[in-house]
Amino acid sequence: MIGLEWCAPLAGGFFLVFLVIYFLRSRTKKSGVNASERIRTGKIFYGTQYGTALGLAKKLAENAKSIGMDLEVCDLKTYEPEELCNESLVVLILATYTDGKPTENAKWFCQWLEENNGDERVGALHLQKLNFAVFGCGNSQYSESFNVVGREVDANLAALGGRRLWPFVPGDEDGGRMEKQFSTWSHHLFPLLEKLTIHSAASRSVLPPEATAEGQSSDDEGDDEAGETGEVDMEDMGGKPSKGGKGSKEMVTPALRANLTKQGYHILGSHSGVKLCRWTKSMLRGRGGCYKHTFYGIESHRCMEATP
Ligand SMILES: Cc1cc2nc3c(=O)[nH]c(=O)nc-3n(C[C@H](O)[C@H](O)[C@H](O)COP(=O)(O)O)c2cc1C
Repeated sequence: MIGLEWCAPLAGGFFLVFLVIYFLRSRTKKSGVNASERIRTGKIFYGTQYGTALGLAKKLAENAKSIGMDLEVCDLKTYEPEELCNESLVVLILATYTDGKPTENAKWFCQWLEENNGDERVGALHLQKLNFAVFGCGNSQYSESFNVVGREVDANLAALGGRRLWPFVPGDEDGGRMEKQFSTWSHHLFPLLEKLTIHSAASRSVLPPEATAEGQSSDDEGDDEAGETGEVDMEDMGGKPSKGGKGSKEMVTPALRANLTKQGYHILGSHSGVKLCRWTKSMLRGRGGCYKHTFYGIESHRCMEATP
């Protein structure tokens, strides 16, 4: 028999155990370990010229309803890519055109991804919240540039920290295979969408990248290649022969020139490259500048990126 004198300590003990359990459970929930809230909404972006990609996007959105997903079909033309880091689920269906160029409505989005991927200030976890999958619309008759756009976007999203749900598939309209490829791709994707939870967005992709980015469409502003305008650069003055002159040393080799141009730099004379910083656009749009603005008050549109 337990004496009355033990009742109070025992009740106190039980109460303490209850408190500890309650505390531990609420902590686990807060840290997200048990947070398995399903992602039910997302966006389907399309890059289209003649409507194929849009048609597939609508079909995907319609089919997604059957698994309880509400996927909004969005025109990339009206989307601000700076918002991408806030998205949890994005499916992209992108057409490629001549020389591997994106469609007009996807141009800025592709350029933004390319620039951000090449920008060392943008971390590899920039898109860590994002789950994504890309399907390409192309034609293998264009062997050199077959599905370049989708392939590059897929690689850039992964490089910026996005989690690839399913490998990129280059849809091929040659021989009328695209529809079949698309339904197989969706067939693999849907079970993954069904399992998608907020928590799972934090775990990194285990899928090997099916494709690596190759080729490049540099859509940077302005076509005027510095160095080809005939203007003599200050650095090349002072009695030294100008670019290409006898005895001049080419500091920008053809390989380096190609590489810098690919990254959006404009080459100055024979020695340097400059490019508009992405924060310039951000600042002009009133979306804030880089750390130099935060710490030193330097306005990003008064700053430029230059090679040494
Ligand atoms: C003028 C033209 C150029 C094209 N260039 C390419 C190309 O370089 N690479 C590729 O994979 N597909 C190319 N295609 C095929 C398109 O990407 C394909 O037809 C796609 O389904 C078009 O999608 P859309 O109807 O959504 O614009 C080209 C098609 C046309 C009409």
